[in-house]
Amino acid sequence: MKNLVILGSTGSIGRNTLEVIEPFPQDFRVWGLSGHSNIELLEAQTLKFNPEFVTVTDEKSYQVLKGKVPGSKLLFGIEGLKEMVSQADADMVINGLVGSVGLFPSLTAIENGKTLALANKEVLVMAGELVTQKAQEKKAQILPIDSEHSGIFQCLFSGKKEEVKNLFLTASGGPFLNRDKKDFDEIKVSDALAHPTWKMGKKITVDSATLMNKTLEIIEAHWLFNMAPEKIKVVIHPQSIVHSLVEFIDGSIIAQMGATDMKLPIQYALFYPERKVASSNGFNLSSVKTLTFQEPDTEKFPAVKLGYQALKLKGTAPAVLNAANEVAVNCFLEEKIPFSRICPIVEEVLSSHSVISAPSLDDILKADLWGREKTLTLIKN
Ligand SMILES: NC(=O)c1ccc[n+]([C@@H]2O[C@H](COP(=O)([O-])OP(=O)(O)OC[C@H]3O[C@@H](n4cnc5c(N)ncnc54)[C@H](OP(=O)(O)O)[C@@H]3O)[C@@H](O)[C@H]2O)c1
Repeated sequence: MKNLVILGSTGSIGRNTLEVIEPFPQDFRVWGLSGHSNIELLEAQTLKFNPEFVTVTDEKSYQVLKGKVPGSKLLFGIEGLKEMVSQADADMVINGLVGSVGLFPSLTAIENGKTLALANKEVLVMAGELVTQKAQEKKAQILPIDSEHSGIFQCLFSGKKEEVKNLFLTASGGPFLNRDKKDFDEIKVSDALAHPTWKMGKKITVDSATLMNKTLEIIEAHWLFNMAPEKIKVVIHPQSIVHSLVEFIDGSIIAQMGATDMKLPIQYALFYPERKVASSNGFNLSSVKTLTFQEPDTEKFPAVKLGYQALKLKGTAPAVLNAANEVAVNCFLEEKIPFSRICPIVEEVLSSHSVISAPSLDDILKADLWGREKTLTLIKN
C-alpha cells in the first residue's frame, strides 16, 4: 500500500490521478491533497478520499474550507505543501501543480527522500540541475508523468544510455499547425484553448499552441535523462498516438504508443516498475489509419528554438525563459496581449538576461523574479 500526496488534485493531472487510483484501493491510499481556487471540488475530493492532510494555497479559499473537512488536517500555502510532502508516512508525491509554484514542494519531497512523480515540468525547467543533483544525493526517484517523457523513459529500457543517438519528443502541433502565420494576430483565447487532441489545463494548452510546451519539454528531457541538447529532437505528429521515440546508434527506433489520455503515463508512474491492467479503455491499433511525422516549422513557431538557446546559455537562463512565458501566457489569457506577442516577448526577455552560471536556489529565485518584472515592463510599454 502506497500513501500518495497529490499536489494540484483539483487540476487536470490531479483529477486524472484520482481516477486512476480509484479502482486500486488495495494499492494506494490518498494521504494528502491540495487545491488553490476550486474549493468545491477540493472539499468533495476530501470528503470522498478522506486524506490525512489537505492544503489550500489561496488565502480566501482556505478561509472557505475551514471547518468543512473535519477528518483531515487543513494546512495553508507553500509552507503547508512543504509540511504535507515531508510527512514520514507519505511514500509518493504526485506533482500536478502548474508553474513555478511547484518548485519548493518538489525540493522538499526530494529532501525527504520521497518518490516524486512529476507532471509539473516548470520545476525542471527552472532548476533542473539543483533538483536532479538533490534527487541523486537523497536517492529520491523522479518519475516522469509528462506523456512524452514517460514514453522516452519506457523506450530507454531497449538499450544502454551510450547507445542512444536521439530522443524524439512528439508534438501534436496544436490548433494552429495549419493556420497561416499572417492570421495569428486574430487568434482569440478560445481558439488557443481548443486543443485538437489533448484535454489539459489552460496554461499548458496555450503552451501547446505556441509550441513553447516543446521548448519546456526539451529542457525537462535534458535533466531527466541527462542527455545533450543536440540529441533531443522535436517531431510534429498531429495524431498524438506516438508519445515519443528513442533512436539507437544501430538505426533502430523504439516508439511508445497509446491512447491520447494522461491516465496511462500516470498509472505507469504510480505502479512503476510494475504494469497493471489499465482501468481506462484500451487503445485499438486498427482504428489508427495514419501516423505522420514532420519537422516543426520554426519560422512559424520560433518557440521551439528557445529551449536550445536557454540550455546553451545555461545557469539562470531557463528559469528566466520559464518566468517570461508564465507571465506572457497569463497576460494573453487576460486578453492584455495578442497570441502573436507571447513568443517574441519571451525571446526578448531571455536575450536581455545576464546569465548567472552554476546558480544557487537564491540566484534562480532572483532570476525568476527579474524575468517576471522584465516581462511585465515590456508588456506595459
Ligand atoms: N494536463 C495535462 O494533460 C498535462 C500533460 C502533461 C504535463 N502537464 C503538466 O502538469 C502540470 C499541471 O497541468 P494541468 O493541466 O493539470 O493544470 P491545471 O488543470 O491548471 O491544474 C493546476 C493545479 O494547480 C493548482 N494551482 C494553480 N495555481 C496555483 C498556485 N498559485 N498555487 C498552488 N496551486 C495552484 C490548481 O488549483 P485550482 O484548480 O484549485 O485553482 C490545480 O490543482 C503543468 O506543469 C503541465 O505542464 C499536464
